[in-house]
Amino acid sequence: MKYVVITGVSRGLGRSLARAFLLSGWGVIGISRTGDGGLVEEAKGTGKSYVFVPWDLTKLETLDSLAEKVVSLLPVESEEVVFIHNAGEMQPVTEIRNLGHKEVEHNFILNTVSVIVLTAAFLRKLGKGFPFLQLVFISSRSVVSPRRLWAVYGAAKAGVDHFVCSLALEYKGKKNISAIAIHPPAMDTEMRRHYLKKRSFLFWMWDWIERYILRRKKVYDPDLVAWKLFYLIEKHSLSSGSVWRWE
Ligand SMILES: NC(=O)c1ccc[n+]([C@@H]2O[C@H](COP(=O)([O-])OP(=O)(O)OC[C@H]3O[C@@H](n4cnc5c(N)ncnc54)[C@H](OP(=O)(O)O)[C@@H]3O)[C@@H](O)[C@H]2O)c1
Repeated sequence: MKYVVITGVSRGLGRSLARAFLLSGWGVIGISRTGDGGLVEEAKGTGKSYVFVPWDLTKLETLDSLAEKVVSLLPVESEEVVFIHNAGEMQPVTEIRNLGHKEVEHNFILNTVSVIVLTAAFLRKLGKGFPFLQLVFISSRSVVSPRRLWAVYGAAKAGVDHFVCSLALEYKGKKNISAIAIHPPAMDTEMRRHYLKKRSFLFWMWDWIERYILRRKKVYDPDLVAWKLFYLIEKHSLSSGSVWRWE
C-alpha cells in the first residue's frame, strides 16, 4: 500500500488533499492541532486507512517524537511514502514598520523552521531502507510575485523553496527520493477569509468586484487544486528540485 503524511489536515487544502488520497486508496496520516477534518469518520467502515495525529508543529522540541510516531505508523512493506508539508499561516499581514518580533517569529517557526526540523527528523527516523519517498512542500507564489503587506509570509515561504533546492541537491542521483515545491493558486479557504477580514471594507469590496464582476481574479476550490496535485504526485510527474506553479 502507498502512504501519505499530510500536515494541516483540519481544513482547507490539507483536508482536500487528505480526502483525495484517501478516496484513491492510499493510507493517510494526518497532522494538525484542532481536528481531523471529519475524515476519521468518513473512513470508518470503508476499509480505508486514516490515522489522525494531533500535534502542534510550532513545538519544535517535540518534532523528533512526531517523526518517530509517524515512522512507527508506516508499515515496513509500504511501496511508496509521500510527505506533504502543507500546514501554514499567513499572519502578520501588515506594513513592515508595524511588525513585532513575536508574530514574525511565530510565522517563521510554523512556515519554515518546523518544516526543516520535521523533514530532518523524518529522514533520520526513516533510515536508509525507505521505499520511494516524495517530499512535497506547499509554498506560495508570493515568493516570486511579492505582495504588499505579505513580507513575512513571502520571506518564510522563500526559505522553504530554497530548502527544497538544497534537499534535491543533497539527494541528487538517488532514484528513491524527490523533493518538490508547489505554488498553489489563490484558494477559498480559512486562510484567505481570515486575510480578507483583516483588510478594510473597501479592499474586501474591490476583491469581490474583481472576482465576481470583472472576473479577472480567480479563487479556486481547494478540492479542485487537491485533485490536480494528487494526479501530479501519484504519476511522479514532478522532477526533484522543481517548483510547480498553477498557471
Ligand atoms: N489559501 C490560499 O489562497 C493559498 C495560496 C497559496 C498557498 N497556500 C498555502 O497552502 C497551505 C494551506 O493553506 P490553506 O489556505 O488551506 O490554510 P488554512 O485553511 O488556514 O489551513 C491551515 C492548516 O494548517 C494547520 N495548522 C496551522 N497551524 C498549525 C500548527 N501550529 N500545528 C499544526 N497544524 C497547524 C491548521 O490546522 P489547526 O489549526 O487545526 O492546527 C489547518 O489545517 C499553506 O501552506 C498556505 O501557505 C494557500
